[in-house]
Amino acid sequence: MISNCFGAFNWCKGNDGVDDQPQEQVIATRTFSYNSLRSATRDFHPSSKIGGGGYGVVYKGALRDGTQVAIKSLSVDSKQGSHEFMTEINMISNIHHPNLVELIGCCVEGSHRILVYEFLENNSLASSLLGSRSKYIPLDWPKRAAICHGTASGLRFLHEEAQPNIVHRDIKASNILLDGNFNPKIGDFGLAKLFPDNVTHVSTRVAGTVGYLAPEYALLGQLTKKADVYSFGVLMLEIISGKSSSKAAFGDNLLVLVEWAWKLKEEKRLLDIVDPELTDYNEIEVYRFILVALFCTQAASQHRPSMKQVLQMLSTEVHINEKALTKPGIYRWHSLNESSSSSQVKKQNKYENPYVTSTNFSGTDIVTEMIPR
Ligand SMILES: Nc1ncnc2c1ncn2[C@@H]1O[C@H](COP(=O)(O)OP(=O)(O)OP(=O)(O)O)[C@@H](O)[C@H]1O
Ligand SMILES: [Mg+2]
Repeated sequence: MISNCFGAFNWCKGNDGVDDQPQEQVIATRTFSYNSLRSATRDFHPSSKIGGGGYGVVYKGALRDGTQVAIKSLSVDSKQGSHEFMTEINMISNIHHPNLVELIGCCVEGSHRILVYEFLENNSLASSLLGSRSKYIPLDWPKRAAICHGTASGLRFLHEEAQPNIVHRDIKASNILLDGNFNPKIGDFGLAKLFPDNVTHVSTRVAGTVGYLAPEYALLGQLTKKADVYSFGVLMLEIISGKSSSKAAFGDNLLVLVEWAWKLKEEKRLLDIVDPELTDYNEIEVYRFILVALFCTQAASQHRPSMKQVLQMLSTEVHINEKALTKPGIYRWHSLNESSSSSQVKKQNKYENPYVTSTNFSGTDIVTEMIPR
């Protein structure tokens, strides 16, 4: 059923002989025959379907040894030549981190392009935290904080340690999956590279993901790590507020989540954004997390922290220099010119993090500016 083809030659052979041109390629991942995935999903039965997004349909399946997997059948439009496809797959399958969804293998037969991932029991954040009532799973503050932290670790790894470095391009709640212990794992990293640049599924579905798009990416196509940082900031606001950025609108003016957070900050009632389902939480810590999210969503990409700095701000009780915070960028406002001058960001300090003024957190500055709910 499975061939582990590391260093294999003529990798397609043996997969029921259905594939197109045999070719020489070094493969670091397992390959599955189409037939084996058919039996894993009861012939891709609709009842095995667990989701579907811009890239294709996702099925839950069980391999012969009982391992549960998520099987993602990529949409036909998106497929590349098998050689290019396998090059990207090899790259993705070499990337391992506790906060990244593991790619178990793939199937490339004829026109089929299918990815086989580890299965995450608690579905995506989009469905467990932000979805319908029937799928809602209550997550207390320590779990939400751990989800922010774990997601930041995974993203930092993609940005700084994965070789080559990867810009995810589509950080959002449906791409954050939760395992049995609610540890977050980022899915779909590297996938954008399987699709031709002019057919990125983000640009074809801008309406659905608009709430996450950094303005410079949405308007000018400037794709950098800082665009991911922006999306991560939006995701954090969703985790803290329990509200979906792409679905909900706030206040009389129907503000998007980031705008609303900024308005609350200006009105000095930032903690009003916290999910009413959260009754017991450390206000100082939550306040710090909201500030980190706002730093991530600043209009000017160069003002946003790196994921390394984000992790530092989330994990230690640093005192965050709130005065360095500039206005968020909102795609639909076309607000690229709204950023404040970079002089507002303090010079690098000994923590190599301009947003942090001290790790000896006394809490006083923040507490005096914080209006409890
Ligand atoms: N490894 C997995 N384990 C468990 N469920 C998964 C897994 N991968 C995907 N899913 C489920 O399938 C759904 C659809 O995933 P998919 O990536 O196809 O769409 P999406 O994330 O909504 O959009 P996009 O195509 O932009 O990523 C997810 O929201 C999740 O519920
Ligand atoms: Mg996805």
